[in-house]
Amino acid sequence: MGKNTQCVHSGTTSDRVTRGINTPIYTSSSFEYLDAPENVYPRYYNTPNQQAVAKKLSALENTESGLLFSSGMAAISTVIFALAGQGDHVIMQRDIYGGTHHFVTAEFERFGIEFTFVSNQVEDFEAAIKSNTQLIYIETPSNPLLVITDIESVSSLAKSRNIPTAIDNTFASPINQNPHDLGIDIIIHSGTKYLGGHSDLCCGAVLSTGELIDRIKTSGANFGGSMNAATCHLLERSLKTLGIRVEKQNQNALSLARHLDDHPRVSKVFYPGLAVHPGFDIAVRQMHGFGGMLSFELDEAQVHPDQFVRGLSLITPALSLGGVETIICAPAVTSHVKISAAERKVLGIADGLFRLSVGIEDVDDIIADIDGALA
Ligand SMILES: Cc1ncc(COP(=O)(O)O)c(C=O)c1O
Repeated sequence: MGKNTQCVHSGTTSDRVTRGINTPIYTSSSFEYLDAPENVYPRYYNTPNQQAVAKKLSALENTESGLLFSSGMAAISTVIFALAGQGDHVIMQRDIYGGTHHFVTAEFERFGIEFTFVSNQVEDFEAAIKSNTQLIYIETPSNPLLVITDIESVSSLAKSRNIPTAIDNTFASPINQNPHDLGIDIIIHSGTKYLGGHSDLCCGAVLSTGELIDRIKTSGANFGGSMNAATCHLLERSLKTLGIRVEKQNQNALSLARHLDDHPRVSKVFYPGLAVHPGFDIAVRQMHGFGGMLSFELDEAQVHPDQFVRGLSLITPALSLGGVETIICAPAVTSHVKISAAERKVLGIADGLFRLSVGIEDVDDIIADIDGALA
């Protein structure tokens, strides 16, 4: 099935009793166990609503199985702690979501896990491999600078050394990029973003092989970060329109990136769909669309960042991303605030950098709002 058909139909069940065409919301947290093939319980990731959505996402990412979590960070921390423990080593791409970066620096040492941050270049991943490396973790396109990592090169390196790989695929969504097809073992999403798509829920997802999902589920049941039935229902409904939302966001973001790139008051634009982006060729190869996220820096001699952001009226300065509405944020004071100023400098996240999550509005209205604020 094509992506839009999977969005609508995969995993969705009908209501046998009333013949309603949507998956019913099963509120029970208690399920009978006599003669049941397995014990069903929300924290075991196997209730009917969890399974319906996990099946839809597995179909979209072309994996065997999936798990749903109460946040993207619950998904990320569970995957990492399921695969690495005391005495193990993990290789992390340096350009990643600030919360993940902080999770690594704040928690790994306490649990005896060694880590190495590396650039997006495959040679750096190779040089960092040690005999105790248990996981290679990437994020592409990355938050907030849209760094593109060559997924296939990293996954084949890892396979040749027998090391599992995980990717944060949040920025791309399963519509724009399917890393399992490129050899990555574990796909992670902050479902709070494109999967939810309406800025009204918080959740995470992990998609992988049956074997790895069983391993992650065992730790996940101990950590207890599973998702409730009401959120599953909202997510399932949202996913039905994921394809058409993301397609529109791709179109709007590309138009906006081109417009900003030509604007005399904008000094830099980061968008993998621009031919000048250093990751453009790889993005063309590994992505189906370039996504709805872009970042830019203002020419601060002409425009004061604070005045600019206060001058917007349609676009809201707000946290998070991936919703139907266009929002803007300065990563230095939001998504990457927990990273030290020195480390942000190394990463290239300037105080005047803005990250735009482009929505599904008419693009002329988004452009008019930005042009007005720049003027
Ligand atoms: C790329 C990326 N990964 C993971 C997360 C964490 O997700 P959550 O906030 O749902 O825990 C975020 C949140 O902003 C993100 O942008």
